[in-house]
Amino acid sequence: MHINKSFEEFIKGIPKAELHLHIEGTLEPKLMLELAKRNKVKLKYDSVDELHKAYSFKNLQEFLDIYYAGATVLITEQDFYDMTWAYLAKAHLQNVIHAEIFFDPQTHTNRGISFDTVINGIHKALEDAKTKFGLTAKLIPCLLRDLDVESAVQTLNQVCSYKNWIAAIGLDSAEVGNPPSKFKEVFNTARQNGFLTVAHAGEEGPAEYVWEAINLLKVSRIDHGNNSLDDEKLVDYLSEQKIPLTFCPLSNLKLKVVTDLKKHPLKTMLEKGLMVTINSDDPAYFGGYVNENYLSIAESIGLLHDEVCVLAKNSFNASFLTEQEKQFYINKVEEYNKNFNE
Ligand code: ADE
Ligand code: ZN
Repeated sequence: MHINKSFEEFIKGIPKAELHLHIEGTLEPKLMLELAKRNKVKLKYDSVDELHKAYSFKNLQEFLDIYYAGATVLITEQDFYDMTWAYLAKAHLQNVIHAEIFFDPQTHTNRGISFDTVINGIHKALEDAKTKFGLTAKLIPCLLRDLDVESAVQTLNQVCSYKNWIAAIGLDSAEVGNPPSKFKEVFNTARQNGFLTVAHAGEEGPAEYVWEAINLLKVSRIDHGNNSLDDEKLVDYLSEQKIPLTFCPLSNLKLKVVTDLKKHPLKTMLEKGLMVTINSDDPAYFGGYVNENYLSIAESIGLLHDEVCVLAKNSFNASFLTEQEKQFYINKVEEYNKNFNE
C-alpha cells in the first residue's frame, strides 16, 4: 500500500516515545570512523561505504558480531556523549519527546573502559537534550545474556551506584540458548534494589522465553516478543495483563526475524488489542530511525490513521513515566491529532 503525503506528514509529526533503542546501535558509520581515528582504533572497514555494505545480516548473531566490533571505537566520556547527542538530536527532529535508552555496560567494561566513563558521557547528553529540546529520557542498562551470570552480578553492582540515573535493568544479546531463567537470581536482586525489569524475548527465541521473562524476571515490558504469536494462551495473557511489546519492524526485517514486513505480527497484535509499540532498535545498522519504522510498517500492513494514534499513545502508556506524566504526553498526542484534522 502506498501512503499519501499527508498521512506521511502526520506520522512524522506525531509526538512519540521511543522505548527500544540501543545507544550503541545509533553509532552511524561516519561518527564510528571519526572516533576510530580520534582514538587510533583499527576497524575491519575503513569507509562509510564499506561499513554500509557490511550491514547485511543472516541472523541476530551476524549483526551482534559487527555491532560489538563497532563499539570498540568508544573510549572516552566525550565519545559516549557524542554518540548519545547525535541520537537525541535525530530523535528530536523525528518528534520523539521521550526516550528510554538501553546501553550495554559489559561491552565496554570488558575492554577496560570504566562504567563511570560510559554512564557519565551518556547522562550528560541526556541532561543537555532535556535543556535544549525538552526531550526527557530514562536509562536502561542491559545485561548481556551470552556472558556468564557472575559478570551480570558484577555489572548490577556497578549499576547500583547510579540508582538515581537508572529506571530499569534489561537483558539483550544472543537469545537462543540463553533463556531468561539463567538470570532469575540477578533479576531478583535488581528488583530488590528497586529497579524495574525488561527483557528481549521471542525475537529469535521461542514463546517459552517470553513466559520465562514474565514469570521469572517479572518484566514490565517484553522487547520484541514476535514469537508470542505461536502461543495463543500467551497472546491472551499479554492482552489481559496489558504487558507492552516493543516492536522494531526494520530490525526484524534486517535480522530475518520476518521475511516480509507484510507478515509482521504487529497488525494482528494491534487488532487483538495488545499494548504494542514501534521502535528502531539499532537504527544506524537497520536503515531507519523511529519514523522510518512507522512509515515502513504503515506501508506494508496498511496502518490506519487511528492505529497510528493508538501506537503513539501506547508508546507513552508503556513507558516508565508516572501516570501524571503519561497523561501530559498523551494529551499532546490528542491535541496534535485534533489540530491535524482541522
Ligand atoms: N543488542 C542490540 N540489538 C539487539 C537485538 N535486536 N537483539 C538482541 N540484542 C541486541
Ligand atoms: Zn533490541
